[in-house]
Amino acid sequence: ALKTYCDVIVPMNDLKWEALRHERDSFDFSGADELVAFAIANKQALRGHTLLWGEALPPWVKTMSSRAEAERELIRHIEVVVDRYRGRIATWDVVNEVIRFDPREGGPYRDTIWQRLLGPEHIDIAFRTAASVDPKARLVLNDCNFEEADAGTAERRKAALAIIRRLKDKGIPVHGLGMQAHLYGENAIDSHGIQQFMRDLAALEVEVEVTELDVIDWKLPADSGTRDRASASLVAAYLDAVVSARPPKAIVTWGLSDRYTWINETFPRKDGARARPLPLDADYKPKPMMAVLGRYRRGAG
Ligand code: G3I
Repeated sequence: ALKTYCDVIVPMNDLKWEALRHERDSFDFSGADELVAFAIANKQALRGHTLLWGEALPPWVKTMSSRAEAERELIRHIEVVVDRYRGRIATWDVVNEVIRFDPREGGPYRDTIWQRLLGPEHIDIAFRTAASVDPKARLVLNDCNFEEADAGTAERRKAALAIIRRLKDKGIPVHGLGMQAHLYGENAIDSHGIQQFMRDLAALEVEVEVTELDVIDWKLPADSGTRDRASASLVAAYLDAVVSARPPKAIVTWGLSDRYTWINETFPRKDGARARPLPLDADYKPKPMMAVLGRYRRGAG
């Protein structure tokens, strides 16, 4: 299925600190190397996910206690990882989910070990280091919850724009905003808000890409046909809003088949039915969502 449907491969977990840094003094690239080799063998592009996140960290990271220590570890990590895949991983989610879910409650930055020890500058350090190791890489700020019509979302969009503006003002390269797009089935898409956000990002001269598309279908009807049609319509409404303002650099789903998805565990349905968040069902059969995505596939016109 990956060979049939995908032009871009993203290791979902194998490039996270948790996977690479079991030990403080060594790196385990076994999982990531396998996926990178798969993509290259199949002439697919790669996105690296992710160089800095407040989650999926090995226990030793949480024992760091000083600014100097955090800065040293962060820089070393990014130097080693970006250098290893230089020329092979063209795009990096440099930082992931650094914006607070609701910036009105406590400021724009999420409370993480990086924010606690380094302050907002953790973002600058990450981008600056990635750029210095691979000046040709596309460097992306990846974050979530940009698509709904509430006040918290409006603040998240503002926070993203402010981070990008700050990096640019300091001369630190940032090339794109990654919009995760874990769409809640029960909530409406704010098409106008998304289109305005796309224009604001264009004014800052950054590209956009959809990086983690799936549908959180825990509150959609049980009937699988009805559920799949509702999810496909939601994805269409979202992508139409994005694309009508500005075609994204890439559209990436978070997984491919319902057989493997984080949604079952994190958003279990009350009726116990399996989640159906992705374009292929658990038997790899295309669902209506695949037809929607096909409309936007490179070369599809
Ligand atoms: O591989 C081990 C397995 O050996 C072990 O038996 C099992 C027991 O818990 O855990 C397995 O690892 C799990 C891994 O997924 C692979 O399934 C981890 O515990 C689990 O924490 C991990 O969850 C991932 C999560 O990020 C945290 O890293 C999800 O798969 C992944 O979909 C999710 O992805 C995030 C993005 O990175 C950022 N945006 C939100 C998105 C959804 O939370």
